[in-house]
Amino acid sequence: MGIPRIQEEIRSLLKERNAVLLVHYYQRGEVQDIADILGDSLALSMEAAKTDARVIVFAGVRFMAESASILSPDKTVLLPRIEAGCPLADMITVEQLETVRKNHPDAAVVAYVNSSAAIKAHSDICCTSANAVRVVNSLTDAKKVLMVPDGNLARYTAKFTDKEIIPWTGYCPVHHFVTVEEVREVKKRYPDAPFAAHPECDPAVLEMADYVGSTGGIIRYAGEINARKIIVGTESGIIHQLKKNNPEKQFIPVSEKLICHDMKYTSLEDIRDSLVEMKHMITVPDGVRIGANRALSRMLAVS
Ligand code: 13P
Ligand code: SF4
Repeated sequence: MGIPRIQEEIRSLLKERNAVLLVHYYQRGEVQDIADILGDSLALSMEAAKTDARVIVFAGVRFMAESASILSPDKTVLLPRIEAGCPLADMITVEQLETVRKNHPDAAVVAYVNSSAAIKAHSDICCTSANAVRVVNSLTDAKKVLMVPDGNLARYTAKFTDKEIIPWTGYCPVHHFVTVEEVREVKKRYPDAPFAAHPECDPAVLEMADYVGSTGGIIRYAGEINARKIIVGTESGIIHQLKKNNPEKQFIPVSEKLICHDMKYTSLEDIRDSLVEMKHMITVPDGVRIGANRALSRMLAVS
């Protein structure tokens, strides 16, 4: 008998451990292909909150696994590569948040899920790129809203609300450095192709987009739009799924720089090893978890 293919090994380990494999669209193609649930940050946190499985294996980055553990503290949450982080999430500390909050005592605080558990615990509500506008507009008592840590998402959200939005200075180093010149150049080569971008891009780039949305939103848009070529302004991993869903369409990355190395760490071997050795377990201490759970659950309630 030959050595079982790694995909089969993973499938049988998932069954043995009563585990579910959650995978983000930015993961490597072969990892996306064995997902139980493939989705954007919002869909994956909804799934983590409601799954019956005993173990959640998160093929994504740390803040995603932390959110799963916060929402389902009785489950074992595994992050196959412990070094898979998010530089944007590290761009604000609790001390910085408390300082800026003192300057705006009447502002509600909305924490993008791409943040630490401690930041979530110090916020009023969380949001993702899929629901930021809805979350902000749900804060009926607030006239001012401090949005952390992503300044670009904050500025984008400000266009769809009457509230005063105070953006923090963080940014995603993958999306933020896409330039207007790059977009212009690709549009020149593909003049009929619509441009779909993630709200973590710079405002000037978003001004040039035909559609702005989360990874899940971009997947839906690409399926629905009557175009044979689509320019993609988000991390390259999404193209795997876009091509699978729409084999007749062509997807053109707007920039070669759109690669999140943290999202690319996780291999099939890492997933197998995480299930064999039950590593790396992600837990959030109760002192932080309770506040973070309140902010995440409040977000899920309005989503
Ligand atoms: P989504 O919320 O669209 O899944 O994006 C997550 C992310 O990390 C974007 O860089
Ligand atoms: Fe973080 Fe940007 Fe990577 Fe998303 S793409 S995980 S925001 S660094």
